[in-house]
Amino acid sequence: MKLQLALDDITLDDAVELLDKVHTYVDIIEVGSPFIIEEGMRPVRIFKEKYPDCEILADTKIMDAGEYEAEETFKAGADYCTVLGVTDTLTIEGCVKAAKEYGKQTMVDMICVEDVPKRVKEIEAVGVDFIGVHVGVDQQAVGITPLEKLAEMKSCVEHSIVSVAGGINLKTIEEYKKLNPEVIIVGGGINHAEDPVAAAKAIYEAINQ
Ligand code: 5RP
Ligand code: MG
Repeated sequence: MKLQLALDDITLDDAVELLDKVHTYVDIIEVGSPFIIEEGMRPVRIFKEKYPDCEILADTKIMDAGEYEAEETFKAGADYCTVLGVTDTLTIEGCVKAAKEYGKQTMVDMICVEDVPKRVKEIEAVGVDFIGVHVGVDQQAVGITPLEKLAEMKSCVEHSIVSVAGGINLKTIEEYKKLNPEVIIVGGGINHAEDPVAAAKAIYEAINQ
């Protein structure tokens, strides 16, 4: 099980200061969507060079022009791009094609996908092998968690690895661990904790127990 640290509402300087202290607890550093809006691919290039033991995921949430946008992400040094499961299968196929060319991976973010088993079948058929269960911040704000969706996902994936994201923190991590996702993504649960370094360490230890 891997820990992915999502860096969303953070500046580049603060992200480096945090990562200098926590990168040894983190398997995948996510350059989050708001961070990409602010800084583009610059954090991807910087983190790739500064933290060579971590993989880098750019949370691009691609919706169109899959091959082109995924290629831009991989050229910057990302190990993973993300594409939205709700988009056209052609766009997802384009991302998968680019990932294969660069020896990288595409994670399909299933945020707002309604018929999960049907969509999983369709996207696995075009070569997807990494799927993310995700309840976004707006849905979190009305009390939705990704726990049930994770159980549903684990019961219908054929061969893909599964990640889960959506408000997970130290208090809830055990519930998610029980469902055995390959990657647990934590953003606010670390960045917004009173002591982000202690939170990262405790979550890392909980995952690796
Ligand atoms: C929001 C995202 C976040 O990166 C993801 O939800 C993880 O952050 P948090 O743990 O704070 O929910 O992609 O769209
Ligand atoms: Mg994200």
